Amino acid sequence: MKKKSITNKLAFATRAIHAGQEPDPHTGAVMTPITLSSTYAQSAPGKHKGYEYSRVSNPTRKALEDCLSSLEGGSYAFACASGVAASSLIFEFLNPGDLLVAEEDLYGGSLRILTKILKPRGIDIHLMDLSKTDNISKIPTKAKMVWLESPTNPLMKLIDIEQISSFTKKHKILLAVDNTFLSPFFQKPLQLGADIVLHSATKYLSGHSDIIAGVVITNCQKLAERLAFWSKSLGPVLSPFDSYLLLRSLKTLHIRMKAHEENALELARFLEKQKSVKKVLYPGLKSHPQHPLALKQMSGFGGMISFYLKGGQREVFKCLSQFHIFTLAESLGGVESLVEHPSSMTHASSPHPPHESLIRISTGIEDIEDLKKDILQALKNL
Ligand SMILES: Cc1ncc(COP(=O)(O)O)c(C=O)c1O
Repeated sequence: MKKKSITNKLAFATRAIHAGQEPDPHTGAVMTPITLSSTYAQSAPGKHKGYEYSRVSNPTRKALEDCLSSLEGGSYAFACASGVAASSLIFEFLNPGDLLVAEEDLYGGSLRILTKILKPRGIDIHLMDLSKTDNISKIPTKAKMVWLESPTNPLMKLIDIEQISSFTKKHKILLAVDNTFLSPFFQKPLQLGADIVLHSATKYLSGHSDIIAGVVITNCQKLAERLAFWSKSLGPVLSPFDSYLLLRSLKTLHIRMKAHEENALELARFLEKQKSVKKVLYPGLKSHPQHPLALKQMSGFGGMISFYLKGGQREVFKCLSQFHIFTLAESLGGVESLVEHPSSMTHASSPHPPHESLIRISTGIEDIEDLKKDILQALKNL
């Protein structure tokens, strides 16, 4: 059977559909089979076809990992059972006494790990506003790792990854970037100088709100060796079935991301015109203070929008209960539009929850006119 020649020179869409995937050598099956076997036959001790035990490596998960690392422009990927499992794998680089510097606006669950798990274990945590370029030179040089998201969740601030990576490289600090909000279709942190990228693959990579998964990607062999050791020893790995589903989802990532962005840009402009809306936070808007940085480091603006409503909790709760097409729910990145209230939902456990008038939208790929009508009626009579 002819082997596919999928190189990183091919375009994103081609790699999203083919990278890591060959027709099955035994049957010719075009789609990667779900290999459920936990163990693999050996012809002599240590002599096998590349697989020994599925916690260590599994053919379906391997195909997914190869596809994900190709899309991110990395060389090594580790598919995990959730986004937080992926984060935990990266935090294995930290030991008591080490300093972790993190952007202060982060997914609430990441802040929870930092403040409620790592800190009590003796890892120093220093939260900073890394979106302010003046602050980058103030990062303590003894830090072991810098952790950030860009755009941040939920304030949609941007961090100049290239600028921060030249600082971290100079001082031999690991730079880990959570790329969940944009996916590799719109931003490639490894190319901008990050050492490690992670995703909650539960979000855009999956795109259908039916998988919990995460991934860690790097192009540094030394880092990959340690991650592989922790992954096989601690076992936070993704199941073969979920690996298959995620591989299937990746085939439409480029199409979905374009549709999310098209709708989000129109909705963000539409929200800016509404009298009951105080301020819209979306990097694609000219009013976003870091719009020029968005144009520099991202190839698109993504589907996430946050906005401040005029008024307080009463108005916000009324608005949130009036949506018909947007579903009031945590999470993001699915084809369906979601709306949520960060201060009482995703970021309730954050040390500094966002203002109660902030609403976050994950723009789906439904018909834009239906989404606009839904917003209009949700903002009515506040
Ligand atoms: C930016 C970001 N990173 C990480 C996570 C954690 O991912 P998971 O829920 O897949 O464990 C989330 C979840 O919402 C997230 O939004």
